[in-house]
Amino acid sequence: MPGSYSATARAHANIALIKYWGKADESLVIPTTSSLSLTLDGLTTQTTVEFLADGDSATGSAVLQDTLSIDGRLQGGTSLQRVSRFLDLVRDRAGIALPARVASRNTVPFGAGLASSASAFAALAAAASRAAGLELPDRELSRLARRGSGSACRSIYGGLVKWNAGHDDGSSYAEPVENPLDLAIIVVLISAREKPMSSREAMRLTMCTSPLYPAWVQASDDDMRGALAAVSQGDLRALGEVAEANALGMHAAMMAARPGVIYWLPQTVAALAAVRDMRTHGFDAWSTMDAGANVKVLTSAPDAERVADELRNRLPDCTVEVHRPGSGVQMVG
Ligand code: DP6
Repeated sequence: MPGSYSATARAHANIALIKYWGKADESLVIPTTSSLSLTLDGLTTQTTVEFLADGDSATGSAVLQDTLSIDGRLQGGTSLQRVSRFLDLVRDRAGIALPARVASRNTVPFGAGLASSASAFAALAAAASRAAGLELPDRELSRLARRGSGSACRSIYGGLVKWNAGHDDGSSYAEPVENPLDLAIIVVLISAREKPMSSREAMRLTMCTSPLYPAWVQASDDDMRGALAAVSQGDLRALGEVAEANALGMHAAMMAARPGVIYWLPQTVAALAAVRDMRTHGFDAWSTMDAGANVKVLTSAPDAERVADELRNRLPDCTVEVHRPGSGVQMVG
C-alpha cells in the first residue's frame, strides 16, 4: 500500500432500552441476550485512522507501533492495547501489516456509563476499515464494531436498533427497527467521573457470581418481545415500563454479584424516585441506567422539554440534557 491511507468517521452513543449484560463468548463478543437501543444525537465520537506506510511518520522515521490519542491526549496501556487488537482484525481482513495513527475526539464523557465505548468503536470500525481500503456493508461493519465493544454494533445504525444475540460471529449483529414512536432520552448527569469498575469487568463478575443473573437472562427474552410489541403498537407506556424493569433487573443482578457491583450514588436514587413520582403526576417518563451512576429518562419527543424542566426543578444539582434520536455512523470528509 503506497503512501498513507486515512479516513474519518463519526458515530453517536446509544442507550439500551433492553440491555446487553454478559457474553456467551468473550473473545468474539457474542452476548447472552439480544438488546434494543436508541442511537442519540449529540453524544458523538469522531475518529481519524491513518495507516502509515514504511518511513511515513510525524518524525520521518519508521513507525512500528500504533498510536492513539483521545481528545488530544496520547494513550498507552489497556486503551491502546484494546484499540491495537481491534486494528489487527481490520489489518488481517485487508491483508495489510501497517501501524496506524488513531485520533479521536468525543463529546461524551469517557467511562462514565454514557456509552462512550459504543460511539468510540463504531467510529473506529468505520474509519479503520475505510482507511484499510475495505468497503463494508452496514451489517459487516456492525459485526466488526461488536468485536471492539458489544454495544458499538448498535451505533452503526441510527434510531431504534436491535442487536440479535445470534450464536456465532456471523449471526450476531445489529439492525434497525421500524419505530412509529417519537422518542427522546433525557440524560440526568449525576457523575461524569470514570466509573469504579468497567462494564466489561462488572458484567463478567455478574455472570460468574450473581445468583440473580440467570433469572435476568430468562426475563430478558420476554422483555424483548414486550418491547418490540410495544414499539409496533406505538405504545410508549408499555415500552417505558418494560425498559425500566429490564434495567432495574440488570442492576439487581449486579448488586447480587459477589462482591456486589453498586454504581448507584445517593443522587441516582433521588433521580429514580423523582421519575416514579412524576409518573403519578401525569408525566410519561421512565428510567433506565447503564454501568454508572447516571440516569437516562425515556419520554416522547414532544414532551421532552417539559419533562426535562420538571427534572431540573426536582434535581437542582444534576445536569439535565435532552437527546433526540441520532443517525448511524457516517464517513466525514
Ligand atoms: C450497561 O458494550 O461497554 O451499557 O462489550 O465489554 O465493551 P463490552 O461492553 P459494553 O457494555 C454495555 C453495557 C450497558 C448495556 C447496553 O448498552 O446494552
